[in-house]
Amino acid sequence: MTSPRSRISKAVIPAAGLGTRFLPATKATPKEMLPVVDQPAIQYVVEEATAAGLTDVLMITGRNKRPLEDHFDRNYELEDALRRKGDTERLSRVQASTTLATMHYVRQGDPKGLGHAILCAAPHVGDQPFAVLLGDDLIDPRDPLLTTMMEAQVEHGGSIIALMEVDPDRTHLYGCAAVEPVADGVLRVTGLVEKPDPAEAPSNLAIIGRYVLDPGVFEVLGKTPPGRGGELQLTDALQTMSTDSALGGPVYGVVFKGRRYDTGDRGDYLRAIVRLACERPDLGPEFQKWLRTYVAEEMPTIG
Ligand code: UTP
Repeated sequence: MTSPRSRISKAVIPAAGLGTRFLPATKATPKEMLPVVDQPAIQYVVEEATAAGLTDVLMITGRNKRPLEDHFDRNYELEDALRRKGDTERLSRVQASTTLATMHYVRQGDPKGLGHAILCAAPHVGDQPFAVLLGDDLIDPRDPLLTTMMEAQVEHGGSIIALMEVDPDRTHLYGCAAVEPVADGVLRVTGLVEKPDPAEAPSNLAIIGRYVLDPGVFEVLGKTPPGRGGELQLTDALQTMSTDSALGGPVYGVVFKGRRYDTGDRGDYLRAIVRLACERPDLGPEFQKWLRTYVAEEMPTIG
């Protein structure tokens, strides 16, 4: 039976990072607001949370992140203008982001790391497990992950992280997990290393941007010293939790095999746009036609 403690109703979306990989585009614009086709990346993430039943969303923002709040708020002037023009289709698209979820915001004064961003959520989250969705990580809605993770948390307790197999030469870009099998599709995480060199990686299972965390994580984060890059690392706190069940653990992993895009990475961002544009019924046919010609004419050797 599900205990009241395991009811998950809140989503936390850290979006206070500096987005240095995308400079200068992110000098005055949050990277989460960069469009993926014609919708900002962050809206896909909020849609994912609400699709999993999480309509209480806390976004961790910071300096230069005001457009995030504006995007999920009403814009009466724009709505009036569209209404006057009779452009009901665009009007409903503009309004969609304002009715998705109950949005809350907290500012992370200094971007001192993902762990520090999560710590800013403590007063809002309280004493219940909660979901974390990184604001620059897109999971294709056809490959549900969060629901599976929430179910695993109800069944096994503790905290759940999402893992994805990566090429061994890319482990230095992620946190990597040492694991043992537990049950169908669920692994016990026995250790974590942040951005290891291939020789030191405990596996090629990389942590991706979805978590279901026991509120014990706040106490652990409060006692975790700054780690790699001088930042408070969530991976370091999860490492502690993986070795001590009394501290928000055990930590379990769910391996994701679906489609995922890290929109904070320029290459992945471009791939996300091309793929999603190709699949869009309104834009896809025309875009695919152009893409085929482009590849055949401009890249004949790979065409
Ligand atoms: P990243 O590692 O992608 O860092 O953060 P970043 O600063 O956003 O981007 P780069 O590497 O400089 O290009 C992972 C997630 O953690 C959030 C980010 O917004 C992103 O969703 N984050 C990171 C915070 O909210 N606060 C921080 O202090 C650091």
